Amino acid sequence: MEEVIKIKGGNLLEGNIRVSGAKNATVALIPAAVLAHNKVTIVGIPNISDVRSLKEILEYMNIKVTTPSLDAIVIDPAEMINKPLIIDAVSKLRASYYFMGALLGKYKHVTIRMPGGCNLGPRPIDLHLKGFEALGAKVEYRDDNYILTADELIGTRIYLDFASVGATINIIMAAVYAKGETVIENAAREPEIIDCITLLNEMGANIRGGGTSRIIIEGVEKLDGCFHEIIPDRIEAGTYIILAAAMGKDVTIENVIPYHLDSLISKLKEIGVDIETDYDKVHIKRNEHQLTKTNIKTMPYPGFATDLQAPLTALLTQAIGNSVITETIYVARFKHCEQLNKMGANIIVASPSATIVGPTKLIGTDVSATDLRCGAALVIAGLIAQGTTTIHDIYHIDRGYEDIVSKLSDLGADIHREIID
Ligand code: EPU
Repeated sequence: MEEVIKIKGGNLLEGNIRVSGAKNATVALIPAAVLAHNKVTIVGIPNISDVRSLKEILEYMNIKVTTPSLDAIVIDPAEMINKPLIIDAVSKLRASYYFMGALLGKYKHVTIRMPGGCNLGPRPIDLHLKGFEALGAKVEYRDDNYILTADELIGTRIYLDFASVGATINIIMAAVYAKGETVIENAAREPEIIDCITLLNEMGANIRGGGTSRIIIEGVEKLDGCFHEIIPDRIEAGTYIILAAAMGKDVTIENVIPYHLDSLISKLKEIGVDIETDYDKVHIKRNEHQLTKTNIKTMPYPGFATDLQAPLTALLTQAIGNSVITETIYVARFKHCEQLNKMGANIIVASPSATIVGPTKLIGTDVSATDLRCGAALVIAGLIAQGTTTIHDIYHIDRGYEDIVSKLSDLGADIHREIID
């Protein structure tokens, strides 16, 4: 027995679709909340399986978690216990590594299983660990578990060899209670990092420079509860924008910060998509001329997001000419190409690039969501394709897209979930 998503392609989509709170902010904000000593309320929480895994981890640590409404969470760490995190929930998502920084920061000790997450090729955490060591922690790895300990954490200057999102956030969390000033140079600048810094500052931290490549953390004695609203998910928004560019008749995407999607929106305009932005909305209309090829290189923010590379690949199968995508963040992130080729695409992968020969007709068949964004690409391809596409391994999609089936049904897509043998 397996649950799949089935899509009968060809329907033109029309209407409004609302973007949820940012997954990659949420998965950092929830661990960040444990740094407080009393209740933290966060609203805009997406209903995705990664959040359910994080709740399990919180409850395991005796943290009281309540959900006063569908998209709100109250995290009360007043009676939390810093237990070794060697439970299955930790292996279900990569972001469980944020408990390293948070628990090290708060207790100077953490034992945690190797984190899980999408298989995008090698995903080391050496920069996180180097940062913790620079702050004074000892790092050991035994029986698949990391054990981090420190007598005290002392502020220092840390230069990141690469502007890693995870390392930037994790080091910030470890440094909020450290003595003195920590400076992170070559920090990542993603909006989700700014959101996490905003939460921590609302809790009483003293962090400056979010959104720039130099972040300064002045250690504080105590963090308290607060209220925080999560930013909209720019990757979910980008996925729906691309999907509307492929099959939209007249679609409005709501709850978007268009500024966060500049690199995508300008690319789509360049290839011929009729797209307009408003303060917090993006409108896409169908136009009669065919899209044209383009070249893209994924880069850290504000460059083109690696997480939108797979969805865009699905769209480019419909553009005239050869498009080249170069992946600089995860050089092996091309598993979606094989799945799209099963549907009739003509994509030649020579890592770190893929050439999409277009346009090609896509035909529905059985495909597998090998990772979260591959899943998003297959949904887009399924909407374009002739006939029925059956997507397997949809648990990856459920990790990051809230109610994707009902959101797309509301736009007129022929899409449903089904249990098959
Ligand atoms: N890297 C290292 N060493 C480290 C950390 C990173 O070599 O210690 C390398 C990685 O292997 C990768 C690159 O640096 O090649 C970028 O990694 P980064 O740390 O920036 O990514 P991440 O924090 O692991 C987050 C998102 C990803 C997103 C990337 C890049 C979360 C939970 N995940 O991952 O999201 O692709 O930033 O923007 O925030 C997704 O949502 O589908 C997803 C994979």
